[in-house]
Amino acid sequence: MARILIIGGHGKVALLLEPLLVAAGHEVIALIRNPAHAGEVAATGATPRVADVENLETAELAELFTGADAIVWSAGAGGGNPARTYAVDRDAAIRSIDAATAAGVRRYVMVSYFDAGLNHGIPADNPFFAYAEAKAAADAYLRVSELDWTILAPSALTLEAPTGRIEVAAPASTAVSRANVAAVIAASLDEPATIRRTVAFNDGDVPIADALRA
Ligand SMILES: NC(=O)c1ccc[n+]([C@@H]2O[C@H](COP(=O)([O-])OP(=O)(O)OC[C@H]3O[C@@H](n4cnc5c(N)ncnc54)[C@H](OP(=O)(O)O)[C@@H]3O)[C@@H](O)[C@H]2O)c1
Repeated sequence: MARILIIGGHGKVALLLEPLLVAAGHEVIALIRNPAHAGEVAATGATPRVADVENLETAELAELFTGADAIVWSAGAGGGNPARTYAVDRDAAIRSIDAATAAGVRRYVMVSYFDAGLNHGIPADNPFFAYAEAKAAADAYLRVSELDWTILAPSALTLEAPTGRIEVAAPASTAVSRANVAAVIAASLDEPATIRRTVAFNDGDVPIADALRA
């Protein structure tokens, strides 16, 4: 049993991840920014804790993280507002990496996106630009940290039912269900072979555990 803390605990992926982790016997702490979401999160078996990561300093985040065995970043500003995108997807994510280091929480799983990277090629006038820049910066910061990190990079997220099967790297399809993403996060936490790796994936034909071990 581990104590796993999810940032973005009321997100669509997180709400699918929480029951998987609880069923596996883990203690799950879900950071949410809206107290009205507490009941829905608690119904998954996770413990909701109200924390707006956009407005918390590194030391405050480190205090929240103390005692956790792993951190999962599944938050996001949702695009649209570039300033908020940089504040959440880049700056708060980077503070959470520093906070995990300060709190001695070595394991950190970041939900990024397929094709994320400093050479993302998105033009500056594209509405997706701020998100691409923010995720690339946070991923780059995590890669040079001392944490046992995994960067999960799914492509476009759907609300389809879980298949339990993915395809790593090869863009055989251009979508992946949030339910499969949740299962990949849970499996990554159990699979040391994912440490210090970036796993880009879509829905596919390979059972998740096999795909992550390969
Ligand atoms: N959409 C895609 O196609 C796609 C593709 C690849 C990767 N991703 C990544 O996948 C991840 C999860 O996706 P999803 O569909 O679960 O997203 P989602 O439903 O939009 O969840 C994101 C969560 O982040 C929370 N959040 C935003 N700002 C916050 C803050 N300041 N403090 C605390 N929490 C905050 C939101 O809280 P509220 O509920 O209060 O708004 C929301 O619950 C994100 O990291 C996203 O970047 C998305």
